[in-house]
Amino acid sequence: MKDTGEIRGLQMKEDHLWCLKENGYQATLHKHYEGLFTQGNGYMHMRGSFEEGCSDAPQDEEYLRFPDNVTLEKPRHPKSKQGTYIPGIVAPHPLLKEEIVNLPYVLGLEFRSAGEPLDMDRSRISGYRRWLDLRDGSLHRSFLWETGEGMQLECTYSRYLSMADTHLCIQQVQLEVLAGEGRLEMTAALRGDVRTNGMNHFARIIPLAESEGSLSLETLTEKGNQIYMLSALEVSEAVDWQEELTGVRAALRGELQLRAGERFTLRKLTAVTTDRDREEGTVYGRAHEQLRRARELGWEQLYNRHADCWTSKWQEADIRIKGDGTAQLNVRASLYHLIRSNAEQDDRVAICAKGYAGEAYFGRYFWDTEINLLPFYLHTNPQAARNLLLFRYHTLEGARRNAQSYGYRGARYAWESSLGGEEQCANWQYADHEIHITADVVYAVCHYVRATGDDEFLEHYGIDILVETARYWCDRVDWNGEGACELLGVMGPDEYLPFTRNNAFTNRMVKFSLEQTAAYLDSLEDGDQGSYAAVAERLDLRPGERELFRHTAEKLRLPYDSQSELIPQSDDFASYAEVDFGSLWTDRSRPFGHFISQERNYRSKALKQADVLELMLLFRQEFTGRQMQASYAYYEPITTHDSSLSAAVHGIVASWLNQKEAAAGFLQRVMDIDLSLEKKGAAEGIHIANCGGLWQLIVYGFAGLKSAMWSEVIELEPRLPEGWTELSFRLAWRGEHYQVTVSPGAHEIHKLNGGDSGAGTIL
Ligand code: BGC
Repeated sequence: MKDTGEIRGLQMKEDHLWCLKENGYQATLHKHYEGLFTQGNGYMHMRGSFEEGCSDAPQDEEYLRFPDNVTLEKPRHPKSKQGTYIPGIVAPHPLLKEEIVNLPYVLGLEFRSAGEPLDMDRSRISGYRRWLDLRDGSLHRSFLWETGEGMQLECTYSRYLSMADTHLCIQQVQLEVLAGEGRLEMTAALRGDVRTNGMNHFARIIPLAESEGSLSLETLTEKGNQIYMLSALEVSEAVDWQEELTGVRAALRGELQLRAGERFTLRKLTAVTTDRDREEGTVYGRAHEQLRRARELGWEQLYNRHADCWTSKWQEADIRIKGDGTAQLNVRASLYHLIRSNAEQDDRVAICAKGYAGEAYFGRYFWDTEINLLPFYLHTNPQAARNLLLFRYHTLEGARRNAQSYGYRGARYAWESSLGGEEQCANWQYADHEIHITADVVYAVCHYVRATGDDEFLEHYGIDILVETARYWCDRVDWNGEGACELLGVMGPDEYLPFTRNNAFTNRMVKFSLEQTAAYLDSLEDGDQGSYAAVAERLDLRPGERELFRHTAEKLRLPYDSQSELIPQSDDFASYAEVDFGSLWTDRSRPFGHFISQERNYRSKALKQADVLELMLLFRQEFTGRQMQASYAYYEPITTHDSSLSAAVHGIVASWLNQKEAAAGFLQRVMDIDLSLEKKGAAEGIHIANCGGLWQLIVYGFAGLKSAMWSEVIELEPRLPEGWTELSFRLAWRGEHYQVTVSPGAHEIHKLNGGDSGAGTIL
């Protein structure tokens, strides 16, 4: 590759509205930063670990992780957890069923001076700084290393995963000798000594030194997936590389004599390919071709292609906030993780609960995708939203198997979905009872169609989901003596009550789902007979089925207390025990769940997360202001927010109720979930649903956008937080793009491909 000197742009100046910074190294925060600084390009994701690793933090420790309550579980690896994930590469686990595989470590670059390894804990380091530049997803580290030999080395690291050439990981280290002289030993490695939740999922590892300055590691997983990593090194001065191969590691070691005033640059370019890739050719051929093309392009072009992709993504997704720099940066951090988590070209995967930044949820797919993430993609990247729904379409077969395993017809989506759609949740409470996920998928299909106008999706894919899930619901309901039907033994979104009668959220979602299915079949039949016939044949629609869907929807009761105007969370909610939070919950910085046994929690009125308020968020137009106020006043004080999905929903409802202070408090809470250094919340991965929740809090809450589910046109009712002087963002809406700008007392909606769609002044 021709050396173009500095990779222009890569060392961009830190910008306090675009860069997440770590000033000074603290071992106790490292794991948090590894999660927070996760880089990714949809195809692959790497946690923000040090190139050289950490002392006392072996990555190959074997242990058995038990299925547990993830919210309350104490995770392993106190100091560092390296993670390299490719959505779709999963392996079986004896207790946890299927889990995403933590792949071999790509980033390895180690330095030694006279035998002394560079180590952030043990070496003499000063001026340590790290920052993730959200504009282009590049990660930088700089510090001064005083070696035992008396050399002073100014070290600067940069790396990125190309957004344009998604198989490529690009790394650079620059060393400048400020004083002294000595020999420096450096090793570039690809390492297979890593584990996933303590498991070794690798059946075979083949390390190779390929040619001068290049090495590879081929891995076969237990499930038979083939992953190939090929690195090429480039140095600013000739180095004689020696190969160092072990059973699990391919490395090249070289030495260099350095003197004061000298500069040295090392670059490592790695191509990662797998047998799941859709491109043609072998994993080897494609990796070699990737490197060849990259070298032909040169460092600068390679970077520019990548940076251009990020620029265009930010153009669609950015939210600009004037008057609150902290919120601006924090919001961008969430948007960054939402952008990188999306597997642009792959509808065989969705977005796992930790945003591919950790193993805490084993890489599984939850309702988070449909309810928390989808709105962001619907309005910033509709193709990504379509892919997420196609994932549910492709996994319909797994959902059918789930229904069958419970003795029902139709399709039942898994609470925690595998790649194939099968239930993965090892805890029966959720797996058996948290059934709303099946209706959430239908809600998301309808939301997608209404927000994009892509009716064709409904006819070819969505209707299969609607009909099959409707069949399941017709079997799952129980008919009572009064001719009404009920959903018994249900866990709603609030996971602290596992067996309720008629959870309001679930019942409304199921009713909606059945209504939509019947209505869509009606309109299809009224419209194009040919299309209807094709759907009827494909789904083997039987006479009377549509009427059964309609009838079941009609007779499914919704709990409501007309006197207090309160929506009971479930029919039996009032009968649960009151909780004395004051005496039980003595440390509010920790989840309430730590202070109460599960047995007691399950019979108490302590909510883990928004439940009725989630219902109000999704069906806002069905509730009066008084009903919303009554529910907010009742549920908020008994909600523990032990789930990261809770705060954003509360913030939105508080904003709608014009409770500005409370809404601002929830905004802070949402931002803290992954960013607070006290909580170290990103250590096990990013709470990606909360990132989507933050987008919703700003767009639905503060800008007051009426959901596309209920409005054909863009309608806003803004309530900006104190101090925000302007809020602006783009919206994709039914095939058009709009620029929305809100300032205190006024807002504008500007159609980007010509014309103003409307401007308004808030009364
Ligand atoms: C929440 C669920 C959520 C899951 C994954 C749990 O703690 O209660 O609502 O789907 O985390 O994010």
